[in-house]
Amino acid sequence: MPEFGAVKVSRTLGVLICIEGIDGCGKTTHARELVSSLMKMGFNAIYTTEPTEGLYGRIIRARILETDEGIPDAVVALLFAADRVDHLEKEINPLLEKGVVVICDRYLHSSIAYQGAAGLDTEWVSEINKYAIEPDLALYIDVSPEIGLKRIKGGRRLRSSMENLQNLKNVRKIYHKLVKDNELMMVNGAASFRSVSERILKLVREYLTERGVTRSAED
Ligand code: TYD
Repeated sequence: MPEFGAVKVSRTLGVLICIEGIDGCGKTTHARELVSSLMKMGFNAIYTTEPTEGLYGRIIRARILETDEGIPDAVVALLFAADRVDHLEKEINPLLEKGVVVICDRYLHSSIAYQGAAGLDTEWVSEINKYAIEPDLALYIDVSPEIGLKRIKGGRRLRSSMENLQNLKNVRKIYHKLVKDNELMMVNGAASFRSVSERILKLVREYLTERGVTRSAED
């Protein structure tokens, strides 16, 4: 049984599934759609996201995402890592202990891809996230930065330096490396919304079956 801080986590119960991708890839919509489909099928699934709404997530949004205050990249990485530890302690681990299928919109691999793209050593980024449990399944929705930026521009204003073409190209490159290293499973995000969501649901259902996760009704 892995131990995390003061909380013991039984990984035989819940499942942690992360959805990753560059800005504008559609991961939030797909993560929410996935939760709704799983719930309709009778699974106990919950959506959560990083950065969180907690103390560190709020600092990240106010001081990094909404304004560019020139905070050093290493400090940014540490704040995301702190937010993740807090997220695990307060939300994710208790849900996993209850046997919930937790769908997390961004997690560890976002730090490796984004903070790595900012020029930090990805091994150091992994090291400061040492206490973050590995996701059981991590899906990566792949779109080109051009498509991602077009989708963002259609919706809200651009945020900070993280959302420029060159940066997103660098982020995508690292995500592709993680796919090659079998850390992430890639889904083509340029296809129609419906086919992307069906593909995600199929991969998740296959994983849940393999892990023997039952629907609440079957318990
Ligand atoms: P995003 O999913 O776009 O949040 P929102 O729901 O507010 O649109 O994530 C916010 C940004 O934070 C995104 O550009 C990626 C960045 N980020 C990192 O740089 N490192 C991380 O560890 C995480 C979780 C996010």
